[in-house]
Amino acid sequence: MNLYPILKTIHILSSTLLFGTGLGTAFHMYATHLRGDVKAIASTARNVVLADWLFTSTSGVVQPVTGIAMVIMAGYSPWSSWLVMTYVLYVVAGICWLPVVFLQMRVAKTTAACAAEMVPLPASYHRDMRLWFWLGWPAFIGLVGVFYLMTAKPTLW
Ligand code: HEM
Repeated sequence: MNLYPILKTIHILSSTLLFGTGLGTAFHMYATHLRGDVKAIASTARNVVLADWLFTSTSGVVQPVTGIAMVIMAGYSPWSSWLVMTYVLYVVAGICWLPVVFLQMRVAKTTAACAAEMVPLPASYHRDMRLWFWLGWPAFIGLVGVFYLMTAKPTLW
């Protein structure tokens, strides 16, 4: 049996999971934040953290593992420019995503406490959400760039 198409299918499926979960949870989190219902924000933040552990972290590992396996099997140079740029963008996206997970966990805790005590959200919540919002963009744009690199495999230098 030829392993390559199986690896590639897993790689592409996993990329949709990584990108789709990221975009979907970010939309859900931000829309709930804008509506301002503290109980709903607490519940959404908890689900978003869970979705990140279940789907984003697993696909985040599957992606480079299947990718490197295909590089070896297909005989691409691991240092070709499109792959080097992929590594850079992927690491940048990962560096932005890690604090995002931490911020989501803190937001879940803060909002759950505020909902239970029926007190308004503190300024630290709004600071966390602002940072969360801005860290999401480089991760999103980085992954869009990786999709292009994967598809076009351009010679960049
Ligand atoms: C992080 C290290 C990664 C490596 C080493 C890697 C490697 C590869 C390789 C070698 C291929 C070519 C397969 C072929 O044409 O037969 C490929 C295809 C693909 N990769 Fe990656 N990849 C990585 C990350 C990602 C990420 C983060 C995404 C998206 C989130 C992604 C999405 C895709 C897609 C959609 C294809 C299919 C492109 C096509 O057939 O035109 N990859 N990858």
